[in-house]
Order: sequence, then C-alpha cells, then structure tokens
Amino acid sequence: MTIAFLRTPQADSANAYNKLEFEAASHGARAVAYVSAGEKGTFRGLPLVTPSDLASLGIDLLVAAMPLSAEDLQPLTAAGWPMSQVMSHATEKERCRAAWSQNGGEWMATRHPGVNGTELIPKVEYAKVGGPAVGPVAPIVDAVGRLSITTRAFDAFHLARVDAPSSGPYAIGRNWGNFLRATRPQFYAAVEAGDVAAIDNLLSDCLRNEMTTGTFGTPVPYEAYNSWVSAGAGTVAGVRQQFNIWRYCVANADVSRLAAPPVGDPFGVWVGEGIVHPNTFLNDCRAQFVSELLAPIDRPLVLDLGGGFGGFGHQLLSNGSNAVYVGFDLPENLIVATYFLMAAHPEKRVLLYEGRDQVLDAKTLRDYDIVMMPNFMLPRVPDRTVDLFTNFISLSEMDYASIAEYLRQVDRVSNGFFYHENLLDNGENYEFYPVSVFPALAQFKTLWSAPSRWPFFSPSSPHHCHGEVLAARRDLDVARYFGAASRAPKTAIRYATAY
Ligand SMILES: C[S@@+](CC[C@H](N)C(=O)[O-])C[C@H]1O[C@@H](n2cnc3c(N)ncnc32)[C@H](O)[C@@H]1O
Repeated sequence: MTIAFLRTPQADSANAYNKLEFEAASHGARAVAYVSAGEKGTFRGLPLVTPSDLASLGIDLLVAAMPLSAEDLQPLTAAGWPMSQVMSHATEKERCRAAWSQNGGEWMATRHPGVNGTELIPKVEYAKVGGPAVGPVAPIVDAVGRLSITTRAFDAFHLARVDAPSSGPYAIGRNWGNFLRATRPQFYAAVEAGDVAAIDNLLSDCLRNEMTTGTFGTPVPYEAYNSWVSAGAGTVAGVRQQFNIWRYCVANADVSRLAAPPVGDPFGVWVGEGIVHPNTFLNDCRAQFVSELLAPIDRPLVLDLGGGFGGFGHQLLSNGSNAVYVGFDLPENLIVATYFLMAAHPEKRVLLYEGRDQVLDAKTLRDYDIVMMPNFMLPRVPDRTVDLFTNFISLSEMDYASIAEYLRQVDRVSNGFFYHENLLDNGENYEFYPVSVFPALAQFKTLWSAPSRWPFFSPSSPHHCHGEVLAARRDLDVARYFGAASRAPKTAIRYATAY
C-alpha cells in the first residue's frame, strides 16, 4: 500500500512522526509524501504536498500521527479527498496495521537515515513484495550443460563413496546416517543402479525434493513450503520477519543479493525482481560478515564444513569478494552442493575429489574458485592453510568422536578464525551435543558468542537454540588479518526473474 502522512501543528509539537514512519515501514506500507494544509517543500526527507496534490500521487491512504480533528479534516474535504481514505494511527492503530499488511504487505523497507550537520534526515528504501513464488523456474543451464555437471559431480561422489571410511570419526554419524537412508530413497536407488539420468533429474529440482532433506527443509522442502503457502499472508510475513533482522545485520541491505539463482527449482517470495527464500537471509548475513572479516586478505581461503546444499557458498561466491570456497561434507550432501554451485557459477573454476592422495595445499586451492571435498580429506589440508573455518548448524548433529576430531582439525588448519553456529540448547527437539560440551580449542580464543539472531534458532524457539561464535587464533598474524582492505569488492552477481 502507498501512503502519505498528514502533517499537523499538534504532531509537530509532539514529535510524533518517527513512531508512525517506523510502524508503516515495518508493516509493508510505502510512504511517498507528507501532506500539510498550506506549506509545500520537503519534510523529513519526503516531498511536502498540499491536499489538492494527493490525487495525482497514487496514494491509497492518508495517515495521521495524532487524533484527527475537524480542523485537520476540513482542508482534505475541501480538496475532495474521501474520508474513507484517512486514518489516525493514534486512535486506529490496529486498523492502520491491518490495512498496511493486507496480503502480507506490499513493500519491504530499509531505513537508513543520513545526517545533515547534526540533523538526522530520515530516509527509507523500498523493495516490492509480489507474494509467494511457487511456479516452476526455468534453469539457467541447458539440459546438456546440466548433465555434464551432474556427471562430474556423480563421478566424484562415486570415488568418494568407495574411499569413505566405514568406522572412525570420518564415518557418517548415527544421526545423519539414519536420516539420509530414511529420507532419500530415490537417490540411493539411482546410485545403486548407476543411473546418472535419474540423478540428473533429482538434482535439477533439488530444492523441492528429497535431495535437500535436512539441509533446506524437512521432511521434503516443497511439502514444508506448501503448508507455509496455505498460511497465505503468513508466508510473506515470515519472509518479512527474516528481512527485518537481516537489514540490521548487513552494511548494505540490497535485496537483489538475495535472489535465488535459477538452479534446483527455487521457490520463496517475490522481492524486487527475484525469488527470495527465508533461508537465504541467514546465508547472506554469514557471507557478508565473512567478506568483511577477511577484507584485508587477497583471495582468502574459506573452509566450510557441512555446507548443506551450498547456500552459504553461493552467497559468498556471488557477493563480489574473491574468496575461494572450500567445502567439506558427507558425499551425499556434497554432490548436491557441487551441482548447485557449479550450475549457479558456470564460469568458476572447480576442483572435485580425485583420490585419497590428492594435494590440497594453499597454492592448489587458490588455483580454483570452488573446491568440493569429501569430509575424510580434511587431514590432507596442511597446517595453518585456510583463513577461516566455518561450520553452520552442523557439528552439534554429529557423533561426539567426529566433533572432537573436527575441532582438532580446526585448531590445526585455520590460520585466522573459526566462525560457527551450533546448539546452545536442544529445545524440545532432540538429543544432540551443545557447544558447552565441545572440547576446547588449544590454539583459539573465543572473541564473542551470542544466541542466534534468527527466530527459528533463537532462545525463544521451542525447536532448538543455536549460538553464533567467533574465535581467533591466539598467535594471529595481526598485519595479515587487520590490515587495510586488499581490494574494492567487485560487483556482485544478480539474478532477476521478471514477474
Ligand atoms: C543441518 S545441515 C546444515 C547445512 C548448512 N551449513 C546450513 O546452515 O544450512 C548439517 C550439515 O552437516 C553435515 N554433516 C553431518 N554429519 C557430518 C559429518 N560427520 N561430517 C561432515 N559433515 C557432516 C551434513 O551433511 C549437512 O551438510
């Protein structure tokens, strides 16, 4: 909904506008003007118009910050403005909110004021919300290209599966082993049959089928979304809730960065010209933080353990940083992330698993943009090779022996930082290992640790509460990690699908 605010002497003297502007921005209304009985010009960063200008501005509703008096209404009536299109936020707050939020609210607003001298000048940017996006999305890569990506990813998967240990800390854990077998029957059948075409089919809409159970949605992502869509405006409200957190977490809240690449048949909500899924806010926030943390380093190596379908890797690779994304994961999820990242970034250089003796030193890793390795290859990475080790919603879900081994590897391979998000409390959901029982890292000091900012993972969530933890190497090379930015970030990649 497009609205204007009414400027009155009472509201001026009560300083009542900020509250109104905040409410409107939070509930999906776009404010385009202030209206005053006499004056014209600008007011609080918006055009100041008279009642006779209102009709030409495409305004749906005029909102007052204070109770409306006959004196306020008289110039509006004189200009022919219908009284059904005027409301007072002071006396009709719930009606205002309901009107602004109709169909989930049409706009997402980012408030980032400027300062003129010492005066705060409000400024708001809006992105249009077009409702749920659930139709099929044509893939960015043609069928021949997709099959060639699938074949490469499947060959690497096949080799890794043969070489994967069946016991010890690098064997698939009890939790994920049972879960994958129970939720991905078509995938395992295709693997047993060596049926690349069937795997290619599964991967081509991996964001809506069993290939991303537990990494994008459970039980099957699309089923979860369908029930969400039936919540109607609630779908958009869920995305708005994520958006309202994300916009405070990133320096540049540019929604075009959140648009899903046309890979794996994405779904979500139309925002601006792209399809945005609630999950992407987390991954973008992580990727922006990582890019800023590593800005002083040219071509930083980011090792991500348990990267799921590749969402964080994708945000990192498309946000203009020149980091190398090095993913380590169980072969069953690695094949999905490999496909997703290769199809979303066909121009990038990619290294996949070739065998147990493969060299994974810094020079080799930097020859590529994307490196995807099975988990058991982690010991092949030399000491102090990577700049950052990340692990999101993952270590806590593993067997304890695996957690201990991976943390030993963090201590050994990261030269700079360890950033992870893992359980603080299991909530009502399950018996996993919270961060408080993780073995301590000998070489690292925790710089900060806080409960998750995201509602689903926060302390008030009944599901499970995660922490966000940043640790730095005790003997960190300060000149390397805290110097000036090595380069200006390149332009980010944008995906737009007209609607
Ligand atoms: C819940 S998903 C999280 C995915 C992604 N990091 C995110 O935040 O959306 C858990 C990830 O941990 C990985 N994982 C589970 N057990 C593992 C193990 N023993 N070794 C390596 N990765 C493992 C899974 O394959 C999956 O990618």
